[in-house]
Amino acid sequence: MKQISSISQLQTELAAYHSRTIGFVPTMGFLHAGHLSLVHQAVSECDLVVMSIFVNPLQFGPNEDLARYPRDIERDRELAEQAGVDILFTPTVEEMYPRKIQTQVQVSGVTEKLCGASRPGHFEGVATVVSKLFHIVGPNRAYFGLKDAQQVAVIEQMVFDLSFPVTIVPCEIVRDTDGIAKSSRNVYLSAEERTQALILSRSLKQVKEMVEQGALTNQHDVRNFLIEQIELQPLAKIDYVEVLSYPTLTEPRNLFTETILIAVAVYFGNTRLLDNVILNK
Ligand code: PAJ
Repeated sequence: MKQISSISQLQTELAAYHSRTIGFVPTMGFLHAGHLSLVHQAVSECDLVVMSIFVNPLQFGPNEDLARYPRDIERDRELAEQAGVDILFTPTVEEMYPRKIQTQVQVSGVTEKLCGASRPGHFEGVATVVSKLFHIVGPNRAYFGLKDAQQVAVIEQMVFDLSFPVTIVPCEIVRDTDGIAKSSRNVYLSAEERTQALILSRSLKQVKEMVEQGALTNQHDVRNFLIEQIELQPLAKIDYVEVLSYPTLTEPRNLFTETILIAVAVYFGNTRLLDNVILNK
């Protein structure tokens, strides 16, 4: 594995591969099995796999966890190499943003609800850094996890609207054996918070089954059921619980014929966790 921190050096390295398939896995590091599942899929489909690790300041709000975001580059290097990453791109903030950025990519529509509503400016930061990384790396295929289903919808919309020459590959959510979705932010949780956080995957699994069995038939009942379940946990503070058509993220008309995203964002202490299920995929 090569580790490169300079944009021009990376592009020289990549030039030889442009007739072959370059797979790209953008991350913010502190790697776990969720990130590595994207690498495994990329390795199986591409000639060269590039992973970026960059904690992107543009996508954090002023009161969010940018400064304390977990980092361990040595451990990440090892995990990336073992998983089959060929080039690990680890730019500094100065390398990515040497001057104050004056151009940002703003995706409308799909950014209005869910995390877009709770975290103003977040998806502008994501779309901007991902388009910058796409230009730097020049991937044929880019791998994103459905753990962040709205992020996938935003990137797909951006790629479609701006004709980026890249195929977006959405990948399934990876969970711990107890069901909790893997996340770099899980390290923030106390033992008590982590136990209570299991309600998210449990109740989402339950509503999926209930809809499939016809026990819940409309989005309002699904939403109310989830809210009731989550609120039974004293440490849970709901940011949102939403049932939307996917990937448009509009009000659904029919839970049985449309692809439906059921998404939650819930605080346990200061830690905001996301989880979701998709119906009729
Ligand atoms: P990060 O949170 O590090 O996630 C990197 C990629 O890993 C994303 O595509 C995310 O959806 C995926 N991922 C995280 N947890 C996962 C899980 N449990 N199962 C499957 N995939 C999972 O998302 C970002 O970074 C940033 O916004 C980024 C796209 C890198 C732009 O800065």
